[in-house]
Amino acid sequence: MHGLSGALGLDGDQVGEVLALAALAPSVHNTQPWRFRVRPDRIELHADPTRRLPATDPQDRELRLACGAALFNLRLGLRAHGIRPLVTLMPGADAPGALATVRAGGHRDLDDEVRSLIAAVPIRRTNRKPFRDVPVPLAHRHALARAAERERCWLHLLPDHVERGRLQGLVAKAHRMQNENPAVRAELGDWTGPRSVDGVPPASAGIRPALQDEWSMRDFQAAERVPGKDYESDPLVAVLCSFVAGEFAELQAGQALQRVLLTATDLGLSASFMSQAIEVPSVREELRRDLGGTIFPQTVLRIGFGSPVPPTPRRPVTDLLMEPAHTA
Ligand SMILES: Cc1cc2nc3c(=O)[nH]c(=O)nc-3n(C[C@H](O)[C@H](O)[C@H](O)COP(=O)(O)O)c2cc1C
Repeated sequence: MHGLSGALGLDGDQVGEVLALAALAPSVHNTQPWRFRVRPDRIELHADPTRRLPATDPQDRELRLACGAALFNLRLGLRAHGIRPLVTLMPGADAPGALATVRAGGHRDLDDEVRSLIAAVPIRRTNRKPFRDVPVPLAHRHALARAAERERCWLHLLPDHVERGRLQGLVAKAHRMQNENPAVRAELGDWTGPRSVDGVPPASAGIRPALQDEWSMRDFQAAERVPGKDYESDPLVAVLCSFVAGEFAELQAGQALQRVLLTATDLGLSASFMSQAIEVPSVREELRRDLGGTIFPQTVLRIGFGSPVPPTPRRPVTDLLMEPAHTA
């Protein structure tokens, strides 16, 4: 089907299925900044430097979060084929330039949790629309926090109106700073609108930002807002954090992000992002201090019960392959 070579005991079509699952991960502006090299004994995950966002994400931090999320899906794809994935992050000389390598670590049966996470991959979406005014139950909150912990990260659920108000202020400040930066605005414009194969299409834009909104959302050029159709009053807001800084931790945080999002999907919850406060370094530092100064905020999520939204486009798997694996 994909003209792919086999790997890890899978044939080419099965490898294609695994990579297609990996590619359903979220990424800032749907840049899909990942590539794969398929070798008989391993699959390598690489960044795609042509999909960087130099103004919004100059250090490639969010690029690595997205690649970490794709890596989590890749792990799930292998589990679906009975393979226990053995992951090495930042493998160095073993696979020069790779962010991660994945090898087969023997056979492993599916358990119910992993089966649910796999089922959630194709139906997870970023949902920018208003959610229902229904609080997220405590048991669901615990499940989300546990999902982050399983991937060695921390999901800080904002406990009260005081912390929420403080974060709202930081998001608004960072949002204003980004709006005053023509290069950041240009990147948003480039990846938004009716692109054919990637980016954020109009159908996924959510609702147009308005003055009464408590949270400053990115403007993806949504259609005019229907009067009275406002955001929910009490969303669950969470900051996903890593315990250390750096590239390794960002790849871990990306895996944790995807585990949290898929767990949310499995629980019938929707999520969207408010990354501005983390993208602007000075505001990220303020947030880090607000959180106690010992953990590293990686992304901000808004979580609740939403109505259905359409999927965003993905590049074909054949566009994601690095030589020498593509034999077609
Ligand atoms: C690290 C990261 C940061 C993101 N930040 C934002 C954001 O600030 N605002 C937003 O609306 N979407 C944000 N997104 C969501 C992406 O735009 C979305 O994943 C992409 O368009 C693909 O759509 P999907 O998630 O529905 O598959 C972010 C995604 C990632 C992985």
